[in-house]
Amino acid sequence: MESADNLQAVNTHWNREGLAQTILDSLAAAGKRLDALTIEDLAPLDQFHGGGMAATRELAALVEISEGARVLDAGGGLGGPARTLATLFGCKVTMLDLSESYVHAAEILTERIGLGDQVKHHVGNAVELPFDDGSFDLVWTQQAGMNISDKERLYEGFHRVLAQGGTLAFQEFMAGPVQPVIFPVMWARDDSSSFLRTPNEMSSLIENAGFRARVWDEITVNVAPARRTSGPGYGIQEIVMGDDLPAIRLATKRNEEEGRIVRVRAVLERF
Ligand SMILES: C[S@@+](CC[C@H](N)C(=O)[O-])C[C@H]1O[C@@H](n2cnc3c(N)ncnc32)[C@H](O)[C@@H]1O
Repeated sequence: MESADNLQAVNTHWNREGLAQTILDSLAAAGKRLDALTIEDLAPLDQFHGGGMAATRELAALVEISEGARVLDAGGGLGGPARTLATLFGCKVTMLDLSESYVHAAEILTERIGLGDQVKHHVGNAVELPFDDGSFDLVWTQQAGMNISDKERLYEGFHRVLAQGGTLAFQEFMAGPVQPVIFPVMWARDDSSSFLRTPNEMSSLIENAGFRARVWDEITVNVAPARRTSGPGYGIQEIVMGDDLPAIRLATKRNEEEGRIVRVRAVLERF
């Protein structure tokens, strides 16, 4: 069970006010037309995970997503992946995130690109999903579980809200063979709100929750920001982490080179 203190700390770590305006200002400064924005325009600013839009497309290519499919994006951040799936596949995406300011910004950006009928946003804790049993065909989550200690409950919840035969697709950081993790990292300043387990521990707890792996790839960590297309501030990592970013990048490089963190991309069937 996540403690209220931990949830508060995680919320404080990610939350930033005025994000939608900052993002729109950055896009305008980069010469984008705000009345004709595309998911590609938004990508450097709303895909908040290693590999950016390319990683979202690569994971989506491993899953069959039909038009009208019911998708949950757990820990969906600013909604970039949710809008991408809705645009590429015509599916209906429900996005849930703990950080109110992200959900608020996500709603504004979704309306701005005309996806309000297809993408819905909720503030909430992924460990206590406020959805009916069997209400989704796909649960999707990209780099949102690092702050969650009760991973058994997280994956049991994914199993509960998925329909029989549904799919779980994720991209997650896990603990590498060398420990401990060097801080700060993108998701935590210290180990009080960072909860990584090894790929072996994760695969057995996820199987115990009722999933069977179709794809399980350990891929090289790449938390470099999406390539800048304009001046300073252009990139979600810069906007959210600001002056802390150089230290985060330095620690991340060591974590990667020394095998302290691995990234896993997986697609699993719910049975
Ligand atoms: C690195 S961002 C990833 C956002 C999004 N998945 C993406 O790839 O663009 C991590 C997100 O996880 C969310 N998060 C962390 N713990 C959560 C929890 N218990 N429930 C829901 N969201 C959570 C944070 O608020 C943050 O938006």
